[in-house]
Amino acid sequence: MGLVSAKEMLTKAKAGKYAVGQFNINNLEWTKAILLTAQELNSPVILGVSEGAGKYMGGYKTVVGMVKGLIEEQNITVPVALHLDHGSFEGAKKCINAGFSSVMFDGSHYPIEENVAKTTELVHACNVLGLSLEAEVGAIGGEEDGVIGSGECADPEECKRIADLGVTMLAAGIGNIHGKYPENWPGLSFETLEAVQAKTGDMPLVLHGGTGIPADMIKKAISMGVAKINVNTECQLAFAEATRKYIEEGKDQQGKGFDPRKLLAPGFEAIKATVKEKMELFGSVGKA
Ligand code: 13P
Repeated sequence: MGLVSAKEMLTKAKAGKYAVGQFNINNLEWTKAILLTAQELNSPVILGVSEGAGKYMGGYKTVVGMVKGLIEEQNITVPVALHLDHGSFEGAKKCINAGFSSVMFDGSHYPIEENVAKTTELVHACNVLGLSLEAEVGAIGGEEDGVIGSGECADPEECKRIADLGVTMLAAGIGNIHGKYPENWPGLSFETLEAVQAKTGDMPLVLHGGTGIPADMIKKAISMGVAKINVNTECQLAFAEATRKYIEEGKDQQGKGFDPRKLLAPGFEAIKATVKEKMELFGSVGKA
């Protein structure tokens, strides 16, 4: 099938009251693990690429080549969107040119007028090329310099303004945080979600910070209009733990060092298991 825009899969998810998972990728093993799991479960999937991960993997065109190659040679037939995660304005333009099928422009840290102006420009570019575009209102919290900031709650009126520009999906802060949640986290603000949903209608809403949100809150958020959920840290933790265990068990080859393929195999399996668990929780299994 090749790469597709996320529009159709998210429209179906919103109408069907389930969510499509966005799983961030960092290398070949992560990408292959996520694609194979999506295919096995017959689930649509979104591959998220942060600007840092794009640089690490050798540039956006390298990422496009790797993902397209895997889709073809691993016989992946479920819908796959390749999506820039938390893109800057320049980063979004670069990914559009490199062949991504979807981009996020995170203008949440700009004053609303500037967020509107920049998002509008990208709406036009994406419409011409048939790409999907995610915008953000209300910054998502997370760890910075060791301090975990609490997630903001978006202003529903601002959400309506951005949604009305014609974006494909909208990430609205509802107290969610990237990475691990602090002990005293008050939980998602369903009041905010309800108000944003009321103002934005059919617009698929995006929940960032999918790691560590209790399953009951995830299900409630989906029932209230969330159609895309981002997961990154949980895959990182699973990958690191599996790799650590393998090294600790000392499975090197009689002093010849670790075979890189064997070294990364437990992490690959751990990502597959994490993605499967999330797709089952989000309800996207069998929805391709
Ligand atoms: P987590 O790292 O908390 O899973 O969040 C991922 C995310 O929202 C990426 O945009």
